[in-house]
Amino acid sequence: MDYKKFVADQVAEIRAAVGDGIAINALSGGVDSSVVSALGHRALGKQMKTIFVDNALMREDEPRRVVDLFGAMGIPVDLIDARKDFLTALKGLTDPEEKRQAITDTFYAKVFVRCVKKSKATFLFHGTILTDIEETVAGIKRQHNILEQIGINPEKQYGYKVLEPLKTLRKDGVREVARLLGLPKEVSERIPFPGPALATRIVGDVTEARLATVRAATAIVEEELASTGAFQYFAVLLSDRATGIRNNRREFGQIIVVRCIESKDAREATATRLSWDKLERVCQRIVQLPDVNRCLYDLTPKPPATVEYV
Ligand code: XMP
Repeated sequence: MDYKKFVADQVAEIRAAVGDGIAINALSGGVDSSVVSALGHRALGKQMKTIFVDNALMREDEPRRVVDLFGAMGIPVDLIDARKDFLTALKGLTDPEEKRQAITDTFYAKVFVRCVKKSKATFLFHGTILTDIEETVAGIKRQHNILEQIGINPEKQYGYKVLEPLKTLRKDGVREVARLLGLPKEVSERIPFPGPALATRIVGDVTEARLATVRAATAIVEEELASTGAFQYFAVLLSDRATGIRNNRREFGQIIVVRCIESKDAREATATRLSWDKLERVCQRIVQLPDVNRCLYDLTPKPPATVEYV
């Protein structure tokens, strides 16, 4: 595929579609939405509004990092603090599907709609890629950013037009376009991260305290395993507890699972054969976190496991 031509065509198409209107994109920091933001900005300049919603479920320092990174590329990003909205919606929920639904509903029905109205945008960008469409149609993925393919017409129902400039590309193509657009390596080569963010890595209640634990564990895992070149690596907080002993006192502490996988497209995956030294080092660091006294390594392939826990 001629990616230079792809970029030129998309820029022209976006310009033609939006005319003198306003378009909005919710940036997540992942490669798909980053490419959409960069493409949209190239096509529309000031007519493009980019927001980053802090949903309280982000990795360590992520909101500031994303805003700074795009700011440095001349793409202004509006940081929307919606932490309370999401934490309130998640309160008391433990069922995985209910948690996901609460996040989706809060994002679209509450936060995004508020931002769209304020921006006066009538065009919404989505970072949908070809794999999303295929997996949603096949019933594999419970994805919500492909409204039209699942029979929702946002123009008829809400008066908005959805733009999906990446819908003919797969992940490798998106990364190629990211490089072409001059996005830094930390964006173009970034490991996948799910939309519902750290909530997919907390079994049971999602609270600020439990988010802080999984966030700190994630930072350790990402730092320690970046050099493995694995497809994806992260930490998960279980809802069970286990007995441990620290400073001669027995305690009933929390359990962190480390997951690190090899995969081509996340449809199937196997656990990475990490060295024992690496595993021990990650474990030693994780059990230093407050209230965490056990660290497990997940060997389960997909299937039967999924990549995420929620
Ligand atoms: P699962 O857990 O379904 O994950 O085996 C497969 C891949 O998809 C990512 N994932 C998501 N990505 N929104 C996303 O954008 C989601 O709701 C979502 N759920 C899972 C997961 O990280 C893995 O790479």
